[in-house]
Amino acid sequence: MVKRKLKQALGRMAPGLVEDRTILRDLSADVRKVGPQLEELRQEFRQELRQELQQDVRQALLDLTELVHQVDGRVNHFQQFDFRLQKLRALAAQVEPYQPAYGLPGVIADPARGSIDRCRAIENHFAGTLRGKRLLDVGSSLGFVCYWFADRGVTTEGWEFNPGNVEVSTLIGELNGVPTTIRAREFNRDSVMAIAPGQFDVVTLLSVLHHVVHHQGLDETKALVKELLDRVPTLVLELAVKGEDPDLFWDASLPEDELDVLELVRDQVEVVPLGQFGTHLSDRSRPLYVVSRKDTVTVNNRVYAYSHDRAEAYANSWAVHDHEDRRYYWGDDFIIKRYAFSGPESDNARLIAREIATLLSLRDLPEVPQLLDFEVSGGQATLVYARAAGDLFEPGTGQSPEVVRQVVDHVVAALRALRERGLFHNDVRSWNVLWDGSRATLIDYADAGPVDDDGDLVSLLWAAHALSTGTREPVEKGKSQLPPRETLGAELWPLYDQVAAGTRDVAALTS
Ligand SMILES: C[S@@+](CC[C@H](N)C(=O)[O-])C[C@H]1O[C@@H](n2cnc3c(N)ncnc32)[C@H](O)[C@@H]1O
Repeated sequence: MVKRKLKQALGRMAPGLVEDRTILRDLSADVRKVGPQLEELRQEFRQELRQELQQDVRQALLDLTELVHQVDGRVNHFQQFDFRLQKLRALAAQVEPYQPAYGLPGVIADPARGSIDRCRAIENHFAGTLRGKRLLDVGSSLGFVCYWFADRGVTTEGWEFNPGNVEVSTLIGELNGVPTTIRAREFNRDSVMAIAPGQFDVVTLLSVLHHVVHHQGLDETKALVKELLDRVPTLVLELAVKGEDPDLFWDASLPEDELDVLELVRDQVEVVPLGQFGTHLSDRSRPLYVVSRKDTVTVNNRVYAYSHDRAEAYANSWAVHDHEDRRYYWGDDFIIKRYAFSGPESDNARLIAREIATLLSLRDLPEVPQLLDFEVSGGQATLVYARAAGDLFEPGTGQSPEVVRQVVDHVVAALRALRERGLFHNDVRSWNVLWDGSRATLIDYADAGPVDDDGDLVSLLWAAHALSTGTREPVEKGKSQLPPRETLGAELWPLYDQVAAGTRDVAALTS
């Protein structure tokens, strides 16, 4: 009753308040309804949060596991590395610590020789030209010289007759990952004679020859140096000097002049001193020399040691009278032609350009001598050919009909091969044929071209005539006459008759 009255009074005095209270009551009823839904949402939110956290933790655990694997791998690697390093230390303790261990400072605690100084002196002398070359280091000790130059682009090999040194130096290379070949090999007559010409460009013999002199004798050492220079154009020698210390066991065997080891090659070599290098043995230093054969031709930084050279390609060549500017060099397995030319329009420049282009395009033909290398620089072109078997015919003695027939057969085969490439030789001459007793090789492609401007078949008959009669055919090009038929063997008459009847195309010959 009182409540109602109060409410009425209130309703009169503040009508909005009663309404607000109603709204509030409604609101709290709503809130009561929303409460459970909120609780549900909260639960869901917690659930999702938990799942996300779980995923994050799982991923972090996976990452951690991967990391542990990686660390494990590294540890294993280092354990193995350490193992090899330990092995190296143990092995190195048993050999003469003559050189540092290349790339592994401290492994040889107190090396007798630094070695970098000598390597640098050699490197400087060759001024970057050793890259890509093949170097043999004789008496390679712990392999320092091999690894130093291998790291600078040189293909290196070491010969060392002490097996302990071989093992240590091989392991040093493995640990560095630097390639070289270390062979357990003694420097002696057998091993030197087994070197193929061209196998090495440089041989270094650093503080080795005094051992060779002592154990194999001075005369034998001189002979070995000569044999070595027959096969390798350049030697680098560090030579012990007599009297360094008279108590050294080799001292009495050494010659007064350390360069006596070059006695047999003195006239054929150039000797350049590179400097003096101290040793651990005495106060006296040892000289380092570069000894190079004079009879070499360098093409594209490759050194070719030749056995003889001439201004003419063959005895009594007509060309030598016209071209003082040509020179030919013969090696065991190559022939080098060097032409000088005054300008791009000169005869020599034209011939050499044509020959290079022709030989490059015929590389795959077995009938054609291979062009191994060429260099054109300044006013000079140098071509290196693989030396085909055989020799040029000496004029003066006639060849048997059988030899002449074989020569003609082989030259016809070469002309056919050329013809298939759309080319003519244009200089088929008796002096452009090599003969090895069973095989003839046509050489000199300087005039080859797409036009038969010399008449290859006519020239071949003249060459056959020259060989049969032991004479030289005329030099002039495009002969109109044929040689007398009866000077050729009857076996060549079918060929002769076809050419006499006008056949000029080798592909049209019937036999
Ligand atoms: C004095 S050490 C010089 C080492 C290295 N050449 C240097 O100068 O740093 C001589 C090395 O040549 C080796 N040696 C001596 N005579 C040899 C021979 N006939 N053939 C191969 N190695 C030889 C020795 O085993 C030794 O490692």
